[in-house]
Amino acid sequence: MKGLILSGGKGTRLYPLTYTRAKQLIPVANKPILVRVIESIRDAGINEIGVVVGQTAPEIMEALGSGSKWGVQIEYIPQESPDGLAHAVKISEDFLQGDSFVMFLGDNVIQGGISSLIRDFANHDWNSQIVLKHVSNPSAFGVAQLRADGTIERLIEKPKEPPSNLALVGIYMFDHHIFEAVHAIKPSWRNELEITDAIQWLIDHGYTVSPHVHDGWWIDTGKPNDMLEANCHVLDEIEPRIAPDAVIEGSEVDRRVTVEAGAKIVNSIVHGPTIIGENTVIENSYIGPYTSLYHDVTVQNCEIERSIVLEHSGICDLDARLHGSLIGRNVSIQHKVERPRTLTMNLGDYSNVWMI
Ligand code: TTP
Repeated sequence: MKGLILSGGKGTRLYPLTYTRAKQLIPVANKPILVRVIESIRDAGINEIGVVVGQTAPEIMEALGSGSKWGVQIEYIPQESPDGLAHAVKISEDFLQGDSFVMFLGDNVIQGGISSLIRDFANHDWNSQIVLKHVSNPSAFGVAQLRADGTIERLIEKPKEPPSNLALVGIYMFDHHIFEAVHAIKPSWRNELEITDAIQWLIDHGYTVSPHVHDGWWIDTGKPNDMLEANCHVLDEIEPRIAPDAVIEGSEVDRRVTVEAGAKIVNSIVHGPTIIGENTVIENSYIGPYTSLYHDVTVQNCEIERSIVLEHSGICDLDARLHGSLIGRNVSIQHKVERPRTLTMNLGDYSNVWMI
């Protein structure tokens, strides 16, 4: 079996961060989502992986290289424009060479890995297996309607009136019959080749598509709050550790905190679950639960909780606690001491600032 990771797309809902960085490379608990996806495919015993890339190809290729760092072999499959998930499958035909494969959306984070799913698929003669999850907002997803016997009746992409609350999780398993489907379907109203239409085609043509209802958490990281949610879930599950060369002076650091190599925590309070990245410096500050500070971040005289701060950013002397925030790379946030006491901002397009 092979792996196919979809890492093209534009990530418009994560602007401004995704103007300058592929959304799949945004770290959750200090590890890019895409790396989490690669590790879960590898841990399921698959090491030949195709990665579909779009306009962010150079940075994805730089970050993943040949895949040897994770013990896998990566082949890149360029997609000229994000014409849909089924289009991404279509252009991967040469790479897949008739093998069965698992397709994993490069921006999805799921609890518990995919080993048992892959095992199930390998042990049955299903043509496809899809993963479903009960959600409170099904209209935002592809939705499945099941028959009384648990088989799939139909799939609908982002329905206005959802027939169920079972959303399609971004993990799908297929055999070679999916290529008949992706060649047969036509673009949808949004001009994309929809994977839901391709799977519906399989069902309508008598192929077996088995649904698996996932009962752990699953996050499709489309929007900033999804990133923060995924960060909370992953932080809840990571095994805390303090790097031997981390410096902790005059500080209270609770047992659910991970401190990475070269980090320095001075005169501060850090409550977990939280992760402090390599060479990050925290002074006279409070870092609250569900915070991930990536590498080379500086925090001085501040309070931060339930937030993600990316590399080389600095946050100093704030009066109010930073909460529920997603801060990009090389960002500087400071309290202005000199008069006039104005707010001075230098923000990129689509930035959001909430003042108190
Ligand atoms: P989406 O979240 O559906 O699309 P997007 O990443 O462009 O985001 P937005 O809606 O905010 O603009 O994509 C899911 C995943 O699939 C994501 O990792 C990007 C990838 N993808 C492709 O590789 N090719 C495609 O044609 C599409 C539509 C998505």
